[in-house]
Amino acid sequence: MATSPSSSVSAAAPTERYSGVAIHLHWLMAAVLLLVFLVGVFMGDLKISPTRVRVFNWHKWIGIVALALASIRLLWRATHRAPGLPASIADWQRKVTGAAHGLLYALFFIVPLLGWAMSSAKGLPVVLFGKIPLPDFVPVDKALGKTLEDVHAFFAYTLASLAGLHIVAALHHRFMLHDGIMGRMLPAHGRRRGS
Ligand code: HEM
Repeated sequence: MATSPSSSVSAAAPTERYSGVAIHLHWLMAAVLLLVFLVGVFMGDLKISPTRVRVFNWHKWIGIVALALASIRLLWRATHRAPGLPASIADWQRKVTGAAHGLLYALFFIVPLLGWAMSSAKGLPVVLFGKIPLPDFVPVDKALGKTLEDVHAFFAYTLASLAGLHIVAALHHRFMLHDGIMGRMLPAHGRRRGS
């Protein structure tokens, strides 16, 4: 739901919620990111085998799907206002929240783009679902590939840590502050008054 331009600071209003599209994109991306992260963490331990190649490919494909979802989400967010925060939220909290959400959006792009670049640099171009070859935007360069591998891992763990803090903050609002912040991002059946 788009809100009025004056709604960035408003009294707690249980009716002022994210739109259905925003809610679906949020939870779909959360699920996809969790999946691609867990596959990424565990695939490194697989022995050289056809299974390892398949799992690596699925990691890449799910990562590209996450990148596509991030693009749709950014487009949606740029064209639809998020509901304003209740007046009970202090100024410093608004700033921290804004910075954290901005950083999350940036990482939604940085992490998969680094993975894609790494694959190109290693000379293993991405063929989405084994059918659609994606362009290489960096040249084959093994040393660069190794560096990008480390940087991809670093930012993937940064994204996971920030997402972890985001979850802790949301749970704090739902179970300690009861200020309705988390309920605004829950599908209708997961909501309850003042949560
Ligand atoms: C948001 C999306 C993504 C997340 C959260 C993510 C996360 C991760 C994680 C956690 C690892 C393991 C790092 C480590 O412990 O060393 C990893 C490895 C890897 N990722 Fe991603 N990744 C994403 C997207 C992509 C994409 C789009 C590609 C390629 C198109 C890709 C290619 C790879 C490769 C090839 C490795 C293994 C590097 C190696 O061990 O050789 N990733 N990723």
